[in-house]
Amino acid sequence: GGHDLPALRELAAGLAEEAGERLLAQRPDRVDVAATKSSSTDVVTAADRASETWLREQLARCRPDDLVLGEEFGGAGTETGTEVTDGAPDAREAGCLTWVLDPIDGTVNYLYGLPSWAVSVACVLGDPTRPGAWAPVVGAVYAPVTGELFHAGHGAGAVLETPPADGRAGERALRVAATTDPALALLGTGFGYDAGVRAEQGRVVAELLPQVRDIRRLGSAALDLCAVAAGRLDAYYERGTHVWDHAAGLLVVEEAGGVVHGPVGGFPGRSLLVAGPEPLVAWLGTRLDELGAAGPEG
Ligand code: IPD
Repeated sequence: GGHDLPALRELAAGLAEEAGERLLAQRPDRVDVAATKSSSTDVVTAADRASETWLREQLARCRPDDLVLGEEFGGAGTETGTEVTDGAPDAREAGCLTWVLDPIDGTVNYLYGLPSWAVSVACVLGDPTRPGAWAPVVGAVYAPVTGELFHAGHGAGAVLETPPADGRAGERALRVAATTDPALALLGTGFGYDAGVRAEQGRVVAELLPQVRDIRRLGSAALDLCAVAAGRLDAYYERGTHVWDHAAGLLVVEEAGGVVHGPVGGFPGRSLLVAGPEPLVAWLGTRLDELGAAGPEG
């Protein structure tokens, strides 16, 4: 109700694109990944923070009444427990919008110079810190290296805008794959940062791998979801993504005719995302359940 969806969508897309272009311009040509772990991750941390700061400044200027939740600086009622925005619960009850930001999704790819990283910007209703208590209104994911911009609006479809090639910029509607047979399915997945969780994720991959066409680990949850929306992956699953990793991408999948299962939203360890065409998601959800892929908390 009440919100100018096309304007919000244009804002999300514009912010993701400009933040991404800034990150691309600012990435040093040669990042010394072998330098002490802290100094190489510092490069990414600095870029991540600068990107989120810039996004927050733009939002403060053009959407002063909205709330913001971001990977780097948190927000109202986040896992850090820092109540940054006073009165956030009241504001949410009053139908206030929250912008959910991942300033760089795919930070390890950004560090190594691999192309799969993106800026993810979503605008949601409800409380994105609680699984099941929110819904995306618009979402945009921009991958600066390829120049691909994915965006969606609730009930308004999902598109991929590509940069001008031979003088022509492209825009096409997104549609998930029609694949129903698991044996023909190309899956995407991702791994968390915790060693214990990773060991479990490896065990699940070992069980699934003989049953499907193949499994990719591209390194950006936001782009994995967009790949599903574009039919470049048949389905995707991952345990433990944060809400900023999937808030925009899941709307892109849904608006491309796919479904997203799992207690999405909130913080890691509590989500097992499964996204794709409904028949594959049904099969994969059951298989992952059998394999205990959600972990002890799931
Ligand atoms: C990570 C990426 C990765 C996924 C991890 C995320 P980050 O986000 O999306 O693909 O497997 O779960 O944490 O740390 O690059 O923003």
